[in-house]
Amino acid sequence: MPDTLTFIEQNLGRFRSELYDFLRIPSVSAKSEHDGDTRAAAEWLAEKLASAGLTSEVIDTEGHPVVLGEWRGAGPAAPTVLIYGHYDVQPPEPLELWTSPPFEPTERNGRVYARGSADDKGQLYMHAKALEACLAADGTLPINVIVLAEGEEEVGSPNLVPFVEQNAARLACDVVVISDSNMYAEGMPSVLFSLRGLAYFEIHVKGARGDLHSGQFGGPVVNPGNALAKIIASLHDADGRIAIDGFYDDVVEWDEETREQIRSLPFDIDAYRKELEVDALGGEKGWSTLEKLWIRPTCDVNGILSGYTGEGAKTVLPGRAMAKVSFRLVPNQHPDRVKPLLEAHLGKVTPAGVTVELVELHGGRPWKAKVEQRLMDAASSALEEAYGAPAVLQGEGGSIPIVVDFEEKLKAPALLVGFALPGCNLHAPDEWFSLDSFEKGIGALARLYGRLG
Ligand code: BES
Ligand code: MN
Ligand code: MN
Repeated sequence: MPDTLTFIEQNLGRFRSELYDFLRIPSVSAKSEHDGDTRAAAEWLAEKLASAGLTSEVIDTEGHPVVLGEWRGAGPAAPTVLIYGHYDVQPPEPLELWTSPPFEPTERNGRVYARGSADDKGQLYMHAKALEACLAADGTLPINVIVLAEGEEEVGSPNLVPFVEQNAARLACDVVVISDSNMYAEGMPSVLFSLRGLAYFEIHVKGARGDLHSGQFGGPVVNPGNALAKIIASLHDADGRIAIDGFYDDVVEWDEETREQIRSLPFDIDAYRKELEVDALGGEKGWSTLEKLWIRPTCDVNGILSGYTGEGAKTVLPGRAMAKVSFRLVPNQHPDRVKPLLEAHLGKVTPAGVTVELVELHGGRPWKAKVEQRLMDAASSALEEAYGAPAVLQGEGGSIPIVVDFEEKLKAPALLVGFALPGCNLHAPDEWFSLDSFEKGIGALARLYGRLG
């Protein structure tokens, strides 16, 4: 271990500049114009895994390729750890809000700014470098390792579930380790006890045959923009609860131990508010901010489209309106159950004079850790040694749908240890990753592999 840590220290500059090469590849999975870049990122990563001492392959799917790296030198009696991450990134738009260009990694005040720096290239690459350091310094590892990196996480992993099913024997493992989330705070490393799930829809409202003069037709003709606003307003009640019949039926009560754990975490609500530049917070009555974020479901508009939105005034009665609406789900809700409930709700609240069509985009199930004390202890002590502070248990409001599939199909528990910091602008302009976290985290992961052995 001392040799490994020295190796990390001595090679840190190179590790960083390699990460920046990775970040320069615009592997935006959602946009077909970037398909070539996405493949280039997969090939780049496979080559780096190979130079770290793993065997590696780029495996085609019906979408973006999967990168599979393997090191099985520990032998069949040793445990096998599957490390999962994603090399695809979110679209960088709106470009004008970036301080430096999204695919030109730039260092400012101890951070690197670039799309994918935190989500998830930076965190995935930390695993690659921790593996390289262990193999270079010690020549071996006490665990067998599988690195599985996908290029479609940001578009709902459509091809990964079949890939895992078809390759279940090759992917067999004792634990799945994932770094694609946040630490609780700077200097406060954490292990996750939950992720929320997701159910994502488009609501299309159709009015008259097309756009109309709002003076000539406004009044008798029902406006799809107005109707959509009414529909959206009907999704919550006055207490901030989701007002869809049956929506809460599968929500489980959390155990008192977890709720106590949440209460024990330091949380400064005024600092949170100020950092977000809002003068008040909202949400469901009766729950704390962290509970609202981690263990309660939500319904949010992600985008609205209707009528004229260009410069100046145009008196028009739009013929169409559309909203993207997503639900964050908590155990034991299932995304497939949300659609019929929402459909029934729309049937009740849609005004006469317009028709509504519901389109389901992707979904994902929520995840609750099956806390295995031995795993938690391994992670906590590795994090504590690297950061000088004990790891805390926390929930997470975001979603990584594949986690539940891994646990079911590979019959191995997942251990989620994230290194991004709160406020790092995931999916937004000026995404950043802490360089200190990059360094300490590589050390923490190298220690974790040792302990998992
Ligand atoms: N890494 C994130 C999920 C995440 C964010 C976990 C913050 C923990 C903290 C992941 O890449 C992501 O963005 N997931 C999507 C869902 C996916 C189906 C597009 C999300 O949560 O919106
Ligand atoms: Mn991610
Ligand atoms: Mn993401």
